[in-house]
Amino acid sequence: MDSIEPGALVETANRPKGPVTITVCTSCRAAGIEREDAPGRALYENMREAAQGLEVIIRPTQCLSVCKRVCTISYTAEGGYTYLFGDLDPEADITDILAMAGKIAEAEFGFVPWKERPEAIRKGILARVPPPGWSPEDGSAPA
Ligand code: FES
Repeated sequence: MDSIEPGALVETANRPKGPVTITVCTSCRAAGIEREDAPGRALYENMREAAQGLEVIIRPTQCLSVCKRVCTISYTAEGGYTYLFGDLDPEADITDILAMAGKIAEAEFGFVPWKERPEAIRKGILARVPPPGWSPEDGSAPA
């Protein structure tokens, strides 16, 4: 009998395809803080450094339109849920932000229940959007 590789039993055809992309708003800052000193810029740079060698894409953006929830990020992945989070700390939350990307990559349709999210990611949820392919009739997942 052929051996089964570790992890093969949790394979699912409905995992997101390809790497998870974390989009970081580099403009996020409180009133009175200059753009070059924005905590969002620090978050982006810290994320880039911490993600080296990991299967995740870190990209900057100028605004995610939730400017009062400094710092903000989104997660996207082909075939997976899209998430938007705010209130993140550019120093303390890096590990949790990256851990969430790993959970999305491993989950059916990238759906990570609240209880399974890393601590920093539990409190700042702003949006959770299902991927394309959901039923326009009743919002159910593709069969
Ligand atoms: S400035 Fe960061 S979301 Fe708008």
